[in-house]
Amino acid sequence: MATAAASAAALFAGAPGPPDAGDGTSGTPGSSGLGDAYFPEAGNGGYDVSHYDAALAYAGHASGRVDATVTVTATATRPLTRFDLDFRGPKVSAVLVDGSAATFTRSGQELVVTPSTPLAKDAVFTAVVRYAGRPHPLKDGALGTYGWIPSKDGAVALGEPDGTPTWLPVNDHPRDKATYAFHVTVPSGLRVVANGTPGAVVRRGATTTYDWTETSPMASYLAMIAIGRFAVRTTTAGNVPVITAVAPKFAASAKKLERTTVAALRWGVQKFGPYPFATAGGVIGGPRLDYALETQERPVYGGFAPDDVFVVHEMAHQWFGDSVGLRDWKDIWLNEGLATYAEWMWTARGGGESTKKTFKRYYTQPGGSPVFAPPPGSPSRRDLFGFSVYIRGAMCVEALRERIGDGRFDRLLKTWAERGRTAPVTTADFVALAERISGRKLDGLFNAWLYQKGKPKKW
Ligand code: ARG
Ligand code: ZN
Repeated sequence: MATAAASAAALFAGAPGPPDAGDGTSGTPGSSGLGDAYFPEAGNGGYDVSHYDAALAYAGHASGRVDATVTVTATATRPLTRFDLDFRGPKVSAVLVDGSAATFTRSGQELVVTPSTPLAKDAVFTAVVRYAGRPHPLKDGALGTYGWIPSKDGAVALGEPDGTPTWLPVNDHPRDKATYAFHVTVPSGLRVVANGTPGAVVRRGATTTYDWTETSPMASYLAMIAIGRFAVRTTTAGNVPVITAVAPKFAASAKKLERTTVAALRWGVQKFGPYPFATAGGVIGGPRLDYALETQERPVYGGFAPDDVFVVHEMAHQWFGDSVGLRDWKDIWLNEGLATYAEWMWTARGGGESTKKTFKRYYTQPGGSPVFAPPPGSPSRRDLFGFSVYIRGAMCVEALRERIGDGRFDRLLKTWAERGRTAPVTTADFVALAERISGRKLDGLFNAWLYQKGKPKKW
């Protein structure tokens, strides 16, 4: 979905394609990636998705099979003879473009689609992808297990950073936000939780279909469905519905998850401004992972009961990461540094350790410690979720607060949160906003904290 401040052409141009065929109407193939420095093949050039409608039938844990029909609605940003979707899932049986059979091939993570007639620039088109089989997670030495992850009785889908194509064909880059509708059919007895707002639950004997819709534009890595024997609770915080779900093993944590999520939401509204989405919540379930994910409107805690600080972290991401989205993965510190700083702010409320003290505690670590290395402004793919992105990223935010003062810092957080309504952001945007609000030059501070090797000594 293109956003007000950035033209779709600029966001989705991708790597340059071959020269135009020459007749001006036939177009050229869309590129296979958007040229992200860390994930060059993620996303695709030549189109902008506005909506995904995913109908999935999950057969149960024994086979793990999923039968899917996914409809992608998109706009061509230039004349296209062919385009790619990112997909690493099971066998594709058919692709239709605007209702007509298209030819397709698969190569690595690319599903390459050739419509029977080329797409004109600005044409709104639909691509239907049908596939069936057992999706598999990705297992990466640095990034852990992610994507479609089977659990004891179902599965949970956690995409960050590039795992959503394990189960859903998408334009897999945070630059291309879209709305989503999920229709998930499961053996009756299992439940489905996903992003956004719940819709109809329709039981047809042995199977039940659950509908969920995400009505706010969402990055593909934040798409979530969880299938299992969940106990679901609903309450409200202000006028925001809060829907939480826990696997049976975590029944004793259900009330606490709800209470903490409500408290974190109320606190976040005071600190960051209006909650950006229609609903909130959280899920505890799935296999034991060592992370949570801020899946939009409904974070997932991977097989552990989170403490309040963990819930605050994922709640803060709803503003910083989900609503305010990245243009490039290398700027991940904008998500993780701010969410970690939110933990420090939460701890400091009502007389806990001050953010200044937390900073000082980490600052005593040696320069070679993972707190400081690598510099969080360009961490490399393997250290995207490393310690320094979180901790040194948050230290950068504290250094900034101390430099500009509480009043301006408060205004900066709230103004930054409003960026969720505009284009995907970069570190340069954050620096520019901080300089504008404070009236100071801050490049020395940001350079020292984000890009210089070792422990910053002067900033
Ligand atoms: N963004 C998540 C968090 O900070 C971490 C995601 C880690 N992803 C992964 N594949 N290990 O809560
Ligand atoms: Zn995080």
